[in-house]
Amino acid sequence: MSVPASAARPGSTSGSASAPTSGPTSGPSAGAPWWRSAVTYQIYIRSFADADGDGLGDVAGIRSRLPHLDELGVDAIWINPWYPSPQADGGYDVADYRDIDATFGTREEAEALIADAHARGIRVLLDIVPNHTSDEHPWFVEALAAGPGSPERERYIFRSGAGPDGARPPNDWTSAFGGPAWRRVTEPDGAPGEWYLHLFDAKQPDLNWDNPVVQAEFESILRFWFDRGVDGFRIDVAHGLIKDPALPDLGQDGRHPMETVGGQGHPHWDRPGVHEIYRAWRKVADSYDPPRVFVAEAWVTSAERLAAYVRPDELHTAFDFDFVRAAWNAPALRATVTSSLAAHDSVGAPVMWVLSNHDIARHVTRLGRPSATRSDDPLHGHDAEDADPVLGRRRARAALLLELALPGGVYLYQGEELGLEEVEDLADEFRQDPVFLRTGGDHRGRDGCRVPLPWTSSGPSLGFGTAPGWLPQPAGWGGPLGLSVQVEAGDPSSMLAFYTRALRLRHELSDRGVLGAGDASSLTWSVADGPLADAVVAFTRPGGFACVVNTGGEPVRLADAVPAGFEAARVLLASDELAGDQLPSDTAVWLSV
Ligand code: NOJ
Repeated sequence: MSVPASAARPGSTSGSASAPTSGPTSGPSAGAPWWRSAVTYQIYIRSFADADGDGLGDVAGIRSRLPHLDELGVDAIWINPWYPSPQADGGYDVADYRDIDATFGTREEAEALIADAHARGIRVLLDIVPNHTSDEHPWFVEALAAGPGSPERERYIFRSGAGPDGARPPNDWTSAFGGPAWRRVTEPDGAPGEWYLHLFDAKQPDLNWDNPVVQAEFESILRFWFDRGVDGFRIDVAHGLIKDPALPDLGQDGRHPMETVGGQGHPHWDRPGVHEIYRAWRKVADSYDPPRVFVAEAWVTSAERLAAYVRPDELHTAFDFDFVRAAWNAPALRATVTSSLAAHDSVGAPVMWVLSNHDIARHVTRLGRPSATRSDDPLHGHDAEDADPVLGRRRARAALLLELALPGGVYLYQGEELGLEEVEDLADEFRQDPVFLRTGGDHRGRDGCRVPLPWTSSGPSLGFGTAPGWLPQPAGWGGPLGLSVQVEAGDPSSMLAFYTRALRLRHELSDRGVLGAGDASSLTWSVADGPLADAVVAFTRPGGFACVVNTGGEPVRLADAVPAGFEAARVLLASDELAGDQLPSDTAVWLSV
């Protein structure tokens, strides 16, 4: 069922049908495994395509839209949690890890989707949620019924409360979604009882990873899906599984909990014990042919700490969130790329570049804030500065060429290929994110990047389904903005046409060993300390390729910005029209000699 490691994309209609997804066939990284260079497309299932008209996306919707992904030219898809779930956190509250939520479909449909994707040469990654289950998972229901001191409670983190009558939480930890990280339960005899830890919503009790029963269960879940042909997993909150057993106070001083993502000695983020778990998982993945792969969601404090997750006997890859957080200016981008490559090189892992996902304000909006600095809060899209979506789309096109030219792999988030912006003006009544609900609206939450995809320019949910979607789409998408697959597919100047061209070209260049897999030694910076260093990011890759990005506010003469030897280079692709011999502001080019 799974795609052989060296498979080409036989069913591809994209024009890059001959481009293998197994990495370059020549050059320094010839024969590299597919995941070292893949472009993976993230499917937020609730919002991708709704085949049964209930307002929520589903497996049948994904199956019906595979041709879009094939045409776009992606190598793999990552599907957000589709398991049975009360949906208190968009499916990250899992009640059964071995089945599909009835609103999304059936396991048979899921297996058919995996087969369909594989037939097109597209690999399939699922999302595993090991830090917590739903409070409706049978284990938690059993834990509540079994009472204090039982083996059932030992699968979670139950403690007595503080104070003489145990009425205060065991410590001062706060939920990443706001409010306390503890909830008190009522014991089977009706008395107020123990407290359980939930680093996220109260409906997401944290598991106790010091318990071998928990460890064995998750290895069994991995095997369950690997046996069904799944090519790998994205690991939710990979940095959160191990807690300091002493549960010391944190003293957060009212800071948002996401600001304290790790660092040496943190009692619940990025603790050394997590690495042992992933060494065991790697053995499971390696026991398959072809080996299965992992990508970690690990919010940690430095590139070095991230690299520890992708050591040779641990996970294969991890999202590079430093790239997400980098300001849109040449020195910041160079510094981020340099430090990420160096850290990953030290352990022999490829970097996974990413600009958006379902937790982050869409990058058209982030980059559309005139200063686009790190002060923008990528998690929840708060910023005092208004975004200009026209500027944001311009920068987003340039940013795509930058990330696709870097050594490593790339993750795309559904809708970025259409140039969708964060929907910042969703009415409160529609918002479902626990971040919004638990902060009493203080944080608007993540619903604005989860609005259903517009497939057509009309209809009750712009072709997402036959009924209104679970969140309303802005009127402009179907109207003057023309943001839909249907409209953009027919417009050679659209974001979709640009993404398709860029991915196709990257495939061709990867096939020739120019782009895709590689390490820091396969990228050479230029203009890094000349007069244009503050505005221009420029680098070459072996094989006569250069990428030049003007992040500055003024056009620059292309001849002044290109690396030596590229003065007479051919323009392979530009993110916007060049103005004579000028590289306009917020524009990128790929050059070839
Ligand atoms: C990270 C996921 O991406 C996010 O959507 C979720 O809310 C938290 N982990 C908790 O599972």
